[in-house]
Amino acid sequence: MGATLSLSDVQPPLNRVAVVTGANQGLGLETAKQLACLGCKVVLGCRSEERALKAIEDIKTACAADGITEPDLRFIPLDLSNLQSVHDFCVKFKDTGLPLHILICNAAVFGIPQSFTADGYETHFQVNYLSHLLMTLLLLPVLMDSGPDCRIVNVSAKLHLFASLEMDNIHGEKAYGRVGFYSKSKLYQIMSMYALQRRITNSHVTISSLHPGVIETNIQQGIMDDKTWFGWFNRGLKMVYSLPPVKYLLHKTGFMRGADSAALSIVYMAVSPKLAGIKCLYYDETVPRATSAESRREERQEMLLDYSLQCIEKYVPGETLEELNLKK
Ligand SMILES: NC(=O)c1ccc[n+]([C@@H]2O[C@H](COP(=O)([O-])OP(=O)(O)OC[C@H]3O[C@@H](n4cnc5c(N)ncnc54)[C@H](OP(=O)(O)O)[C@@H]3O)[C@@H](O)[C@H]2O)c1
Repeated sequence: MGATLSLSDVQPPLNRVAVVTGANQGLGLETAKQLACLGCKVVLGCRSEERALKAIEDIKTACAADGITEPDLRFIPLDLSNLQSVHDFCVKFKDTGLPLHILICNAAVFGIPQSFTADGYETHFQVNYLSHLLMTLLLLPVLMDSGPDCRIVNVSAKLHLFASLEMDNIHGEKAYGRVGFYSKSKLYQIMSMYALQRRITNSHVTISSLHPGVIETNIQQGIMDDKTWFGWFNRGLKMVYSLPPVKYLLHKTGFMRGADSAALSIVYMAVSPKLAGIKCLYYDETVPRATSAESRREERQEMLLDYSLQCIEKYVPGETLEELNLKK
């Protein structure tokens, strides 16, 4: 689907510092690996120390093969289902004294049964969107202070095209669908990209989003335990596409991608000099595309941002709100 990218499309961004959420597996791990191989310092925001340390070992091995013997890799605990943990992550990051040039909002859950976080919000809403919004707000002052061309990349999904904002059903008060609520969270990431970028138009920080493609990762696990026809359908589908000839065909026709090439799309958006200074880009894999009409409606973006700020206000300092023109 579209042109293919290679590492030659991205210049080595030496001395760049990147934060990657959910960096211990799937696309987050691949992205962290590629950034480290390009010479970036990478901070892994993960909820399990054990899984993060294992990822660091994997990344070191990949870097060694690329001739980088001592990559700067750090783990800071981050549980996106807990706003206090997001706040603590940002404090710990600031304590390192590092600048920040790249923030990759990647971690996500997909298709899980309706559940609520300790903060009382629907889990897709908080893990995929709200906590990343809090993290973005808390780290924006560092990004704005870290020199030219700093970038935030939201790893969203094409499924946002089928979602809409329903303020009276934001946590599934009226109706809930596993895929529907994932899609909504991916829509909110894009809506917040527009709403936040509007507030920092004069800064050198750009926010972009992408659909990385369809990739076989653990993210599908969420829908595998569904007891309805949908779960059976997906388990059947997985069995079929796991067959080597089918898998080969799906990759050959571009319907599915490998985690490495999907991560390359993320890295491309994070560091390619071709995209420097371009705001509110949305890529579908390797091709720039328009986001959904719903995502572009400014009054809806503002409505969502207003509500979201109420959810996280306890954690965002007044001066940050003022600096970002978010104070009521
Ligand atoms: N795979 C696809 O086909 C596809 C398609 C479109 C978009 N995407 C997007 O690509 C991104 C990466 O997905 P993936 O396929 O790589 O998924 P994945 O392999 O399941 O990885 C998800 C990552 O998110 C982390 N995570 C989940 N809940 C968390 C929490 N509460 N706090 C901190 N971290 C948490 C997971 O940590 P644990 O290991 O601790 O669970 C894991 O590291 C997601 O934003 C997804 O929406 C993927």
